[in-house]
Amino acid sequence: MTLRVLTGITTSGTPHLGNYAGAIRPAIAASRQPGAESFFFLADYHALIKCDDPARIQRSRLEIAATWLASGLDTSRVTFYRQSDIPEIPELNWLLTCVTSKGMMNRAHAYKASTDANEAAGEELDAGVTMGLYCYPVLMAADILMFKAHKVPVGRDQIQHIEMARDVGQRFNHLFGAGRELFVLPEAAIEDNVATLPGLDGRKMSKSYDNTIPLFEGGAKALKAAVARIVTDSKLPGEPKDPDNSHLVTLFDAFANAEERSQFRADLRSGLAWGEAKQRFLTVLERDLAPMRAKYDELMSRPEHIEALLQEGAAKARAVATPFLAELREAVGLRRFNAIPVAVEKKAEIAAPQLPVFKQYREADGKFYFKLSSADGRLLLQSQGFDSGRDAGQWVGRLKNEGAAALDGVPASFVEGVSRDDVVAALGAFAAA
Ligand code: TRP
Repeated sequence: MTLRVLTGITTSGTPHLGNYAGAIRPAIAASRQPGAESFFFLADYHALIKCDDPARIQRSRLEIAATWLASGLDTSRVTFYRQSDIPEIPELNWLLTCVTSKGMMNRAHAYKASTDANEAAGEELDAGVTMGLYCYPVLMAADILMFKAHKVPVGRDQIQHIEMARDVGQRFNHLFGAGRELFVLPEAAIEDNVATLPGLDGRKMSKSYDNTIPLFEGGAKALKAAVARIVTDSKLPGEPKDPDNSHLVTLFDAFANAEERSQFRADLRSGLAWGEAKQRFLTVLERDLAPMRAKYDELMSRPEHIEALLQEGAAKARAVATPFLAELREAVGLRRFNAIPVAVEKKAEIAAPQLPVFKQYREADGKFYFKLSSADGRLLLQSQGFDSGRDAGQWVGRLKNEGAAALDGVPASFVEGVSRDDVVAALGAFAAA
């Protein structure tokens, strides 16, 4: 069985070196492994939650698509698409929303962080919280469950979202699967050996710390300027440096081979100047990045080419999503009236209404009798004795067929406490049956 790997890339901001080493590079490497089938997509619906600037949304999607393509993503191996090109995703989002417990959403970290911050600031708990933010994990579950992904490579901050996707998928399977597993329950794949790059100041590289090294934006010049701003200690050239206490070394390691790494350490210990060390880092960086940057610039100058690749990706993704959504609609009961036979709930077999009972019998006196009892067993009518069974039978026949009309003149009497109406009603039941 092929392992299906899926991950989404929120299209906000411009990719930096940390995104490349921590997510893009390992994902592309994994997509080249035999036996893996990868789905990578631009989570641009998710991006709308954090950004209401259309120009920025558009720019970021383009830059991120170009970045992944320039970094070596092979669209003939990988299904690469924009979330917003797959209308089945928001539709599934709704089906899932209907089975997602609100209590679980209340506990989502991103939402909790907002309400906690509001509480600390003395604001109303939900101040500034949109339904987009609140329901973010459901949309993410739709992204994942739609494609029956087994593994979802994400950062640690996303583990809870994968758990929620499992939870919702399981609930849906239980409610609508009729014993089948409609959804595959995904697992988070956390790559521990992937580099989390430090930023210029040594803290985790992140846009929110304003300590990033750009990947392609601004070209070689911007890269060089950023590397120059990497913070080091103030040891002078010639002074021995401690490689284990330098985030420049951590950055270097992410792009150098084993030999270069040990050489770098040795040289720092024997007094390599920080300026020269940065130049060496820039050299290993450029070895990897320069060819990709050329590709990136070329792609950015031909957005229509990127558009065409993403359209192809959307077609591949929809070839999976469209039939699956049809199956899911069917499962929840959104079915066509004509094409799909409506499985009419089998009416509980209506028990034939209980009828009054005629009994014919012969007594010790040798005569033939009949009697009529109501459906509930109450004796209503008692005949006289007949000389022949046939006579008795004929009266029974007439009473059944003619009902009240045959009552007049019948050689029988009402049992004590029984009214003519009771008997008429009982006979009426035969006519109705
Ligand atoms: N929430 C993810 C992030 O911020 C992005 C994302 C959206 C995603 N949909 C996804 C990741 C589905 C994995 C699978 O990183």
